[in-house]
Amino acid sequence: MSASSPRYYWEYLGLDALLDAQRPATASDGRTPAHDELLFIITHQGFELWFKQILWELEAAIDLLGRDPVPETAMGEVVRYLERIVAIQPLLVQQFDVLATMTPLDFLEFRDELIPASGFQSVQWRLIENRLGLPTADRLKINGADYTSRLSREHAARLEASESEPTLLGALDAWLSRTPFLRFGDFDFWEAYRAAVEVMLERDRHLIETNPSVDEVVRDRQLRSFEATRETFAPLFDADAWEQLRADGHRRLSHGSFLAALLISLYRDQPALHLPFRVLTALIDLDEGFTAFRNAHAQLVHRSIGGRIGTGGTSGHAYLQAAARKHAVFTDLFDLATFHLPRRELPPLPDQVRRQMGFRYADPT
Ligand code: HEM
Repeated sequence: MSASSPRYYWEYLGLDALLDAQRPATASDGRTPAHDELLFIITHQGFELWFKQILWELEAAIDLLGRDPVPETAMGEVVRYLERIVAIQPLLVQQFDVLATMTPLDFLEFRDELIPASGFQSVQWRLIENRLGLPTADRLKINGADYTSRLSREHAARLEASESEPTLLGALDAWLSRTPFLRFGDFDFWEAYRAAVEVMLERDRHLIETNPSVDEVVRDRQLRSFEATRETFAPLFDADAWEQLRADGHRRLSHGSFLAALLISLYRDQPALHLPFRVLTALIDLDEGFTAFRNAHAQLVHRSIGGRIGTGGTSGHAYLQAAARKHAVFTDLFDLATFHLPRRELPPLPDQVRRQMGFRYADPT
């Protein structure tokens, strides 16, 4: 086509290649294809197209959020890219409903022809997980083997290289660690917050101790779980203890970054924190969306193959359920709610800080 010829829909979208890319294995050697294999292929291809789009948005978000400093004008774009991924995720979950119209018996018409191919080999899915920031050390092993073990050498190398590329979690951590509102001059915010936490915890303890509707056994159990809650607060005020938890894989954000995220979520009504709060919310939505994808997939696998092992050689449904729990990335952001106080009990911010957090055209009185 010459440079001046008008664009043509079919060619612009590459439909020759796209619509020629469905090759049912059961149609080889001139056989009549199994009816449901086309749906199986198209569903997977639909997912891979959306994975490509998700990676595109993810890389753009990492690029902007990873800058130092992040240009103020870029924050809205970061939120927009993340929210687009969040809007795509329900489509993924819905596609499993379409595939579920293929019954186990229909699947058995062609399942054996797939071995050893499996979604387990989806390079784009692994890239998404890696670029989100899922640490390789935190991945489930399959019979002692790594997630790259069933891939071609080229694909394994591509994924191993991606393990050292910038991640969304890393960009978030670096950005949060530079939050300007963590220091308040002479005012020790975290001491004031700690005192407010003590008041809240003492009130909770009093409620348990004086609750007339529970017996001693239940009260003891409640007091033990209350003590466990109290202990989760301790590392907030002890950077070394926090970093030890992080080294042991129980936390992903650094201490300072977690405090910044907590401050943003507690004082999100302050104008300067609106957008940062939307970033945190979008990341929670995003993580939840991928967990929903993993859960929906695990359910589909359960109804499609029951308790059988997968074509990729894992335990199948059991492995996928465990991965849904273990492979979430932004769990620290979900845990922020553990440390929330009612607005009326929050330490008031010093006036000077409040003014800094306001819009410039606001009345500074
Ligand atoms: C009847 C339909 C499906 C069945 C029975 C099925 C089965 C499985 C099983 C058993 C696994 C674990 C690995 C293995 O042992 O093979 C797996 C992994 C995977 N599948 Fe599917 N799958 C189906 C549809 C899909 C679709 C439509 C997608 C979309 C791309 C997909 C993407 C994946 C991904 C990304 C993994 C890796 C998950 C992880 O390791 O965390 N699967 N699948």
